[in-house]
Amino acid sequence: MSEPYDVAAIVGSLRRGSFTRRLVLALSELAPPTLKISIVEIRELSMYDADDEAAAPAPWVNFRNRIKGADAVLFATTEYNRSIPGALKNAIDVGSRPKAANIWDGKPAAIVSCSPGALGAFGANQHVRQCLLSVNMPTLQQPEAYIAHVDKLFDSSGAIANPGTREFCGKFLEAFAQWIGKTRRV
Ligand code: FNR
Repeated sequence: MSEPYDVAAIVGSLRRGSFTRRLVLALSELAPPTLKISIVEIRELSMYDADDEAAAPAPWVNFRNRIKGADAVLFATTEYNRSIPGALKNAIDVGSRPKAANIWDGKPAAIVSCSPGALGAFGANQHVRQCLLSVNMPTLQQPEAYIAHVDKLFDSSGAIANPGTREFCGKFLEAFAQWIGKTRRV
């Protein structure tokens, strides 16, 4: 078998014990052998300021290099006030500049959103999608992934407890693997 696709997962929450992070870990266990999902941290990225490009901070440089080397990106987000948590938006902004070196350009992406609420962070999911349009990422359309009641999602081992949700997540990941195969620049 050829190497699995290297999928960089970005978690839109900095909170210790984040449900979004737990969801990504559960997805990485559930992923087909064609995908290797690993979290790329965004905590150290300072707020984007174009003036800092003259001597780009090391966390920006490391983050940009890590994403450049990935085959695809999985954006996992919760929702803050019906939109994207600031840390995730900042990571997208840091990666998108300098414009001629936009690291997201052409890289296949998928979005999964989650919330303890009933709407599964639909608003944040759509706003991430809007940003990915701007940075030119071919983004998986279907299935859309809005995970509601994420606080009740996991069993004691951290796996997705509900068989229906587990099956759905498996289909989402399989569709993402196929999407990467179709859209990845080689
Ligand atoms: C929230 N939360 C929230 N939930 C939601 O479904 N829609 C929303 O608009 C908001 N808004 C919001 C704003 C702020 C500032 C906070 C801190 C929280 C609740 C949020 O989904 C919940 O705290 C999640 O558990 C956060 O995700 P992590 O940290 O568990 O990954």
